[in-house]
Amino acid sequence: MEDLMSLLEAATAVRENAYAPYSRFKVGAALRTASGAVHAGCNVENVAYPEGTCAEAGAIAAMVAAGETRIAEILVIADSPEPVPPCGGCRQKIAEFAGPEVPVTLCTIDGQSLRTSVADLLPGSFRAAHMDRV
Ligand code: THU
Repeated sequence: MEDLMSLLEAATAVRENAYAPYSRFKVGAALRTASGAVHAGCNVENVAYPEGTCAEAGAIAAMVAAGETRIAEILVIADSPEPVPPCGGCRQKIAEFAGPEVPVTLCTIDGQSLRTSVADLLPGSFRAAHMDRV
């Protein structure tokens, strides 16, 4: 529970720094690694819209830059009528660094939350094992 609160605090804080002048939809993400370190990221948009990056991608980039590659838990927060699920691309990005059982907590800034898992968000995901015959 304490672990989750630290993720909520980190994601809430980093969300304030989101660069979202086009959608005006600020998102924060925070993850805890196997070592216990917390990394956070926010969405960073671009005038060339497809060049924008999601909050989850930012948190993952921070983790990898810090030398770690295993996510133990991840939380995402936005100001939305209901907890916002990660986009399809982010589900695949999370699955690269997290096992199917890893908890994913989706939050709104008004206190709603939904606990799910990597497997629930991305059933039947494409994994390295699918290339075993190469
Ligand atoms: N966005 C995220 O950062 N994460 C999500 O899980 C959903 C969408 C961002 C991308 C874009 O900057 C804005 O939210 C609107 O789609």
